[in-house]
Order: sequence, then structure tokens, then C-alpha cells
Amino acid sequence: MKQPESHILVIFGASGDLTRRKLIPALYELHTRNLLPDQFAVLGVSRTELSDLEFQDKMREFLPANDHNQKDIDEFMVHLYYQTLSTAESDEYPVLKQRLESLGSELSIPENYIYYLSTPPNLYQVIPQSLAEVGLNDSTNGFKRLIIEKPFGTDLTSARELNKNLLNYFKENQLYRIDHYLGKETVQNMLVTRFSNGIFEPVWNRNFVHHVEITSAETLGVEERGGYYDHSGAMRDMVQNHLMQLVGLVAMEPPVVIDANAIRNETLKVFQSLRPIKETEVEKHVIRGQYIQSHVGKDLINGYREEHGVDPLSRTETYLAMKFYIDNFRWAGVPFYIRTGKKLPARVTEVVIHFKNTPHHLFGTQATTEQVNNQLVLRIQPDEGILLKIGMKVPGSGFNVQTVNMNFHYSELSDIYLPTAYGRLLLDCMQGDATLYARGDAVEKAWEFVQPILNAWQNNPDIPIYGYPAGTWGPEVVDQLMEEGQWRYPCKNLAHDGEYCEL
Ligand code: BG6
Repeated sequence: MKQPESHILVIFGASGDLTRRKLIPALYELHTRNLLPDQFAVLGVSRTELSDLEFQDKMREFLPANDHNQKDIDEFMVHLYYQTLSTAESDEYPVLKQRLESLGSELSIPENYIYYLSTPPNLYQVIPQSLAEVGLNDSTNGFKRLIIEKPFGTDLTSARELNKNLLNYFKENQLYRIDHYLGKETVQNMLVTRFSNGIFEPVWNRNFVHHVEITSAETLGVEERGGYYDHSGAMRDMVQNHLMQLVGLVAMEPPVVIDANAIRNETLKVFQSLRPIKETEVEKHVIRGQYIQSHVGKDLINGYREEHGVDPLSRTETYLAMKFYIDNFRWAGVPFYIRTGKKLPARVTEVVIHFKNTPHHLFGTQATTEQVNNQLVLRIQPDEGILLKIGMKVPGSGFNVQTVNMNFHYSELSDIYLPTAYGRLLLDCMQGDATLYARGDAVEKAWEFVQPILNAWQNNPDIPIYGYPAGTWGPEVVDQLMEEGQWRYPCKNLAHDGEYCEL
């Protein structure tokens, strides 16, 4: 893999949680794999007063040290610098410019800068504008790229405004909207599974697929993020971004080539084909839930409303299941089901393609014969892999059929390095590849789809929000959403499905 060009990565919000939990470990991972350029610096920027050394010491705490990696960590630390700055004050940006210039000449780095906005979203307006005011958006003498973390707006209107504002100061090809799901190896593998195998693509359509089910379940609750989450909820936190991106990759047409525009054009077309759910239909197609206090084993688990930072009367959804259609030639009439939630029994993300039954049930007359429902499970996490469920003859007399699993686990590929999502995405941005970043038009389309649902919940308080005991698979009423068949109850282990799992 080629190393990116020398550059300085400026992290705004450097004293925040994301920087130490995700960004610094991801950069260290790139360092240990020799994927960072020789001339490279990270400039942490934030209001907190810190020296370079103090910043390095703070970041060091988040790198797991052992007997073998002390030297690696020390070598990595040398790349970290810090600048105190009130990011909200435009008139402080000349200081930033000066610091970048002096770092550049000290370390022989050209004017290649990546800006990472790891800040609260209310700074997404002022930072790009202030950078532009001092010419730090100008790519004439070196690349200037801007990485933005979600949320990309909190509704359709604010998402449009955000895009408009960003485009006042940066061009679309300088913008990298990060969705860490796209950085997951197994998410990218969905494209490879679909488009490199002759056997899947011919059946990947309405003629053979009965329905598609996408689950992203978490065992954790909102932890320390109650304040943020209570204004967000599962729709804004998971569905509008991560799950819609999964839908895009599962449902898209083959791109002409693998590059940023070709792939993103195809996912956009999927979003353009989503059948809108009208406000009046929301109750029928979307079910929301909120976890309530429960006992798991000997432990008493808090309900959502008891969590720190959450309104005790909150009606924010921690669970959501919905059914929708994609109105195009490939998917006409095929229901798509997605479900996500916090405090569910297992941490699992997977896509399940449920195939139609055989047209004639040849073996269906015997009492011991199962009705085979062929499923292809693309497991995104954990126990990453693929599982195909097929019918097999039970040995012995007669023609009794039983469903069996054919499965592949990534863990079987020993010595294979699975990069973290942030490591992969940061490296892509350093190399100028936006394929796995969300494009502005697609983000807006995804908002267009979810907005009527948010409106309905806001305008019509009678739409129920169902309680579900923490540690269960969500409100029971969700079963009614699935017309035929039933939701899969996946476990941590890919092949152990249908069992009740751990919390
Ligand atoms: C984040 C959400 O974007 O994704 C979190 O804000 C959620 O609430 C997380 O827990 C899930 O990511 P992952 O990679 O753990 O599935």
C-alpha cells in the first residue's frame, strides 16, 4: 500500500473523547503498520491550555502499552503537537495559520492539511468559515481536506444548511463526511460478496429475494452520553446514517468502477428510490421503543429514563424497527426491515437476505420435514463472516429435510490484519480517496426519507413508544411488523442463532 503524501492533520476538539478513544489509537495503528508518511504531524487544537508535551502525555494514556511497544509509542508521540485556540473565535485563526507554517518549515512538510472536526456540531459553521478567512481552505499549494463527524444536521433543513455552508468554503471533493460503518471491513466485503461472485448477483433481486432484514443490536445503553442521546434517539443516531448506508450497499446496482463517484452515485440512486413513508403511515410502518428497568440475573438494570442526562419523562426512542420498500426494477415489492436498539441481548450487526421458497414443496408432505427458508447472513460484527442456510436430507429412509448452516468466519483467515474503521478511513482521506465517505446529496436524501417519521413523532404524541425490559429483543409488537416469517434472533456467535443470548 502506498504511503500518503506528507501532511499535517489538525484535530479540532483534541481534548475530547473521540480524539483519545478513536483517532489517536487509529493513527497509532497506522504508525505501527508503517502507513503514515515520514514527514507527518498531528496538531491537536482545543481551548484547554496544554503544551505539546502535556498533550502527548494525555494521549499516551489511551495507547495500550506492553513490554514490546514502548519504543513504537515513543516514536509515535514525537508526531503529536498541540495548539491552544478558541475555535469559535474567528480572530484567533491567524495564530493557527502561523503555527501550521512554522511546523511545516520545521518538519519540511508542504502545505498539505487535513482538518478533522471532532467538535460539537455547533462549530461546523464557524470552523470552516474561519479557516477560509485566513486562506486555509486554498488548495493551490497543497491539499486541504475537511473531515466532519456526524451528526450531519439534526433534520433535513439543518442538513441542507450545513451542506450549503460547507460548500461556501470548501469544494465537495475536499469534504469527507465520516460514517464509521463504511470503514468496517465487513461492510466493504458486502460489495465484494455481491460483485465478485457469479452465484449471488443473479438471485439478488425481487425474483428470488423474499425480504431483507438488517439488524444492528447493542448490549450497551446510553452510558455517559445521555445528554446527547436524549436529543438524538435511534433514528438520528443509527438509522439516518449507519443503517441507511448499509441499505445503500445491499441494494445498489453494480457500479461501473470502484471509485468514489461511481459507488456514491449508486447508493444515491437507492436513496432516491426509497418509497416515502407518509406521516399518516408512520404508526403502521415504524415501531419505536425505550428500554425500561429490568432484572438480568442478579443485576438490576436501569431504565433509559433513569440514565444520567436523560429527561425523566423522555420519549426518545432507544429502539426502532421499520419496514419500507425500494421502488425500482430490482427491488419492487420486496420488503426491507431494519431494526436497531440499545440494551438488547446481544451486540450484533448483520444483513440477512431471505430467499423465496421453492415454487413447489416437493418434500413438504411429511410431518418431520421443515419448510426451508434459505437465508444468506452477512455478519458485520462480531464473529465476522458469512452464513448460508440450506435444506439437506436427513439421513435415513424417506426424504426428510432439515435446515443446516454453511458458514465462513473471518477468524479462520489467520495472519490477516483487520484494520479498525477509523484507521481505514483516516488512511483513505490521507490518500484523497472519498469512496467510503458519505456524499452531501446522499446524506440529504437519507434525511428526506426519515424526516416525515420524525415529524409524525413530534406532531402526534399519540403514536406509542413501547417500553421493553432492558436485555430483551425490544417491544413484542415488533413481530407484527414482519408480515410473513419472523425476525432472526442472532447471537454473538454467527452460527448459534435462535437461542437466547447474553446481555
Ligand atoms: C455511533 C453511535 O455512531 O455508533 C453510537 O453514536 C453507537 O450510539 C455506535 O453505539 C455503534 O457503533 P459500533 O461500531 O459499535 O456498531
